[in-house]
Amino acid sequence: MSSERVSVEHCKGINGLDKVVLREIRGSSAEVYLYGGHVTSWKNDHGEELLFVSSKAIFKPPKAIRGGIPICFPQFGGVGSLEQHGFARNRIWSIDTDPPPFPSSTSNKTYVDLILKPSEEDVKIWPHCYEFRLRVSLGPGGDLMLTSRIRNTNTDGKPFTFTFAYHTYFSVSDVSEVRVEGLETLDYLDNLQDRERFTEQGDAITFESEVDKIYLSTPTKIAILDHEKKGTFVLKKDGLPDAVVWNPWDRKAKAMTDFGDDEYKHMLCVEAAAVEKPITLKPGTPVFSDLCLAMNSSHFFSITGYLKSRTFIK
Ligand code: BG6
Repeated sequence: MSSERVSVEHCKGINGLDKVVLREIRGSSAEVYLYGGHVTSWKNDHGEELLFVSSKAIFKPPKAIRGGIPICFPQFGGVGSLEQHGFARNRIWSIDTDPPPFPSSTSNKTYVDLILKPSEEDVKIWPHCYEFRLRVSLGPGGDLMLTSRIRNTNTDGKPFTFTFAYHTYFSVSDVSEVRVEGLETLDYLDNLQDRERFTEQGDAITFESEVDKIYLSTPTKIAILDHEKKGTFVLKKDGLPDAVVWNPWDRKAKAMTDFGDDEYKHMLCVEAAAVEKPITLKPGTPVFSDLCLAMNSSHFFSITGYLKSRTFIK
């Protein structure tokens, strides 16, 4: 598909891994690796990167790519029988050449459809059949949309249950200067304290040490204000009730082999998720949920990217 300056290009990325580059008319772009169905780049029309990817990221299976937007499925985190964050992020997805029609029409013309189905090995560790379809699309204004459609294809009629997250690593100028709005006064499970439940206090969330919290029953809109960049990411969601906020800070950063010692200063994960209450999906029973992430521009530094993700589960 292409018209003037709009393109969807299939090419090789780092270590020869297949990737798809989406380019929009005003110059915004996005890159998606088939490895993990993983968005690794999203640039606005000034060519500014809006996502963080570590300079030490290992683009080699089975290590998940450190940064961008890993898909955590069918398990978020380490609670459950599977590896941390499930296996979708370290499987090779395929191009979906014949995706079923979407329930709502989208004006975006620049997109790629990916699909993940379980291998025989996968069925041994998670005994379910499914089709996970991911559409990554870029809008004319630089908006990035991720649409997930998950279908239970078990032939024995059995439901399955999963947890999920869009593990988005936002690029920020200085995490100590960043403020998150929309989560104040909410309950959260603290991953640093065995998921014990607490209630957030204070006006807005700021960062001065390691944070790893699963906020519960979060609103449809969460904002990440970056004063230095004078830009704001706005995360809008519907149907994914939780929001995970994570920054490893200095000590954990040093312990990660695929993460630079000081890189924690320039990233913040705010992840739209379904963690506290796992999603149960019966074969043939349609469920719908919707998620959007957005970035607003400000007068000084024009950030026009808009990231929107949707999840349809059926
Ligand atoms: C976050 C979790 O979503 O991901 C953290 O809340 C975890 O607990 C982090 O440390 C990174 O996970 P991983 O597996 O990519 O190193």
